[in-house]
Amino acid sequence: MDLLVQPLNRTIQVQPGANLLQALQQARVPMSYSCMAGRCGICRCRVTAGEVLEGTGEQRRPLDGADNSVLACQTTLTGPCTIEIPEPDEAVVHPARTIKATVVAIEHPTHDIQRLLLRPAKPIEFSPGQYVQLQFTPELARPYSMAGLCSDALLEFHVRRVPEGRVSGYIAQQLKPGDGVKLSGPLGSAYLRRKHEGPMLCVAGGTGLAPILSILRGAAAQHMPNPIRLYFGVRSPRDIYGLPWLQQLQREHPSLALHVVVGSGGDPATQRCGLVTDAIEHDLDSLQGWRVYLCGSPPMVEAATLLARRKGAAAEHIVADAFYAQGH
Ligand SMILES: Cc1cc2nc3c(=O)[nH]c(=O)nc-3n(C[C@H](O)[C@H](O)[C@H](O)COP(=O)(O)OP(=O)(O)OC[C@H]3O[C@@H](n4cnc5c(N)ncnc54)[C@H](O)[C@@H]3O)c2cc1C
Ligand code: FES
Repeated sequence: MDLLVQPLNRTIQVQPGANLLQALQQARVPMSYSCMAGRCGICRCRVTAGEVLEGTGEQRRPLDGADNSVLACQTTLTGPCTIEIPEPDEAVVHPARTIKATVVAIEHPTHDIQRLLLRPAKPIEFSPGQYVQLQFTPELARPYSMAGLCSDALLEFHVRRVPEGRVSGYIAQQLKPGDGVKLSGPLGSAYLRRKHEGPMLCVAGGTGLAPILSILRGAAAQHMPNPIRLYFGVRSPRDIYGLPWLQQLQREHPSLALHVVVGSGGDPATQRCGLVTDAIEHDLDSLQGWRVYLCGSPPMVEAATLLARRKGAAAEHIVADAFYAQGH
């Protein structure tokens, strides 16, 4: 039976019952994937005609999503259909794996942020902006975003301690250099789109700076000429960190404009105060043709997504990692 793949306008022959991601891989269609288990969300695509089954094994069910989006790795083909894959020329493939790493250093850039430097036992491939699951003990595991590039010798993470937080509390109080950590991934689809040549808007809230730094470092390493606007929102002046790294990036990438926005307690004479979304609203008229990268707390990411859509950014050009709490 026929599977039509858009926007490539390519028809491939598939067997009923085939897994969609496997069918695309066999036909060498460029499609991003990582976990192959429905967790990372990176293989999402749209079914625009025909029917498929979502889920595996007993949980299979007919497609009923409002926007017809499915995870290719969790989709079974049952009849002829048409799918639309995202940005075929920006597909990234870093099969997820679990590797061991050792804590090399723990720094404290602010009163509640720890900067972890880990040495992986084997190199790990990822795209700038992705994250991994860090497992400290059998019970303590959470997703955290890399702040650097996969070519770095050490992997860098920024972890903010949340009140009563089990894993962030463990990292702040008990983790020490020499300890082992298991790392699974990479995960996440909010990675740097290297082929885009237009302007980029990057919005980081708190430790959302980690994946945004990775994206900026990736853009600088690739000598991407794009104008980039970075808005870094913090709750109060004592939460500002990373300025020397950002200033270094500005020297490497002169078209990077940096805006630090302080939520409360800032000095209006020397600091930009208020909500990061209000600053963007004020500064930028239109985001048509822009790529938008949003990382940090879920309310900030949600507000910034709505704003970016209202200012004309296309939905498929807004990528985000909201730091949702797990296991609640
Ligand atoms: C894709 C992804 C990437 C992430 N990357 C990072 C990162 O790079 N750096 C980073 O610091 N965090 C990141 N996080 C958040 C991180 O995974 C944990 O959720 C966070 O460290 C809290 O875990 P915990 O075990 O300490 O808190 P828990 O024990 O899980 O929660 C304790 C209490 O704190 C609340 N809580 C949990 N998280 C937050 C929060 N962020 N703000 C306010 N209250 C909270 C919970 O609702 C609960 O009441 C990411 C999350 C996701 C989903
Ligand atoms: S590869 Fe499909 S969700 Fe991760």
